[in-house]
Amino acid sequence: MEDKNDLMEKIVSLCKRRGFIYQGSEIYGGLAGTWDYGPLGVALKNNIKNLWWRMFVDGRDDMYGIDAAILMHPKVWEASGHVSGFSDPLGNTRFNLMFETKVGTGEEATKSYLRPETAGGIFVNFKNIVDSFHPKLPFGVGQIGKAFRNEIAPRDFVFRTREFEQMEIEYFIRDSEWEKSFEEWRTEVCRFNDAVGITKKSVHELEVPDSERAHYSKRTIDFEFDFPFGRKELYGLAYRTDFDLSAHERASTVELKYQDPETNEKFTPHVIEPSFGVDRTVLAVLISAHTEDELGGEKRTYLKLKPAIAPVKAAVFPLLKNKPELVGKAREVYAALKKEIPQIVWDDNGNIGKRYRRQDEIGTPWCITIDFDTLTDDTVTVRDRDTGEQQRMPTVELSSLILKKLSVIV
Ligand code: GAP
Repeated sequence: MEDKNDLMEKIVSLCKRRGFIYQGSEIYGGLAGTWDYGPLGVALKNNIKNLWWRMFVDGRDDMYGIDAAILMHPKVWEASGHVSGFSDPLGNTRFNLMFETKVGTGEEATKSYLRPETAGGIFVNFKNIVDSFHPKLPFGVGQIGKAFRNEIAPRDFVFRTREFEQMEIEYFIRDSEWEKSFEEWRTEVCRFNDAVGITKKSVHELEVPDSERAHYSKRTIDFEFDFPFGRKELYGLAYRTDFDLSAHERASTVELKYQDPETNEKFTPHVIEPSFGVDRTVLAVLISAHTEDELGGEKRTYLKLKPAIAPVKAAVFPLLKNKPELVGKAREVYAALKKEIPQIVWDDNGNIGKRYRRQDEIGTPWCITIDFDTLTDDTVTVRDRDTGEQQRMPTVELSSLILKKLSVIV
């Protein structure tokens, strides 16, 4: 079996070499706990976020999306309990993990915080969503965005960073429904893991004991993943009760209740919260996809990414780069395909074997080669990343073949 540290090193090095993830502020020696996503990393990350949004926001009738400000009124974090309770032990003291900042200038400046979770932006917009859309309970609000924590020990690549992204849902329910809703979201988390290609047998559910749960939660399940550096939290699913809405109602003095349109009964909804870290998803996806095998008697490394997640869907090559008629035809095929499938690339560097290796290493599912036959019969070869098999097909069928394979079942 492969040495686990070895695997982590291979992934970090592949990410840097191929333009997925770079150390933050690298030319200045780096800034601990920050990472920059390069062209392929941002594409991978966007594909993951888009899939999440499609599955949990656009794909459902009971969900609303928002994009709230990162800077929020400092009272938000007092009411939520983060000012008093969001801390880690450091020496003999507790160290608050929130980043402080100043909003405004001079005497007018007030202390605020960079949000430590995106959830806060959802709770403070509860009333806005209810007033604008009159949703029927149960309904949820989803948000994707940056969160910041001054982690004492950022480590393990993008696993624990000081600036990261979350994809969070606050699903508002009647308190009597919490167990049913909790189970439904538990299934949804597993469905998302499958959709992005996280290895099922590497995910384990941990019932978080009372003493370790966040201050707002009455029940939490951590979805843990077998990372090369140990079994660690990938996502959390929490029953936050009516803790947040009640706390914000008290602190803001604005009523944050739901009125049943049929019975006129007024009450504070309870909340189930599935919380997904984007960066941990990226890492779990890369670890799940990283594969080494032998193809045609040669060792190779490839990323067995789901096509919907792969940063590049297909690469188009002219068989030889010094034959203008081949290059011209290949450019034509490339341009037509790119209009329909933007995440494709042109590659004419080195020989075909090298191009295949390069595309395998970044997880490109298909390589399309334009050769001399293309000039007469308008067919191309399509090579499959996982099997290495090549299939001849008419150029006009390319986009429908790829688009069909890109559609995910959600
Ligand atoms: N709103 C609930 C909440 O924030 P959490 O368990 O503290 O709960 C949720 O964080 C998710 O955010 C985690 O499961 C993880 O995926 C991600 N996350 C938390 N801290 C992180 C960090 N320092 N670096 C990267 N991801 C982090």
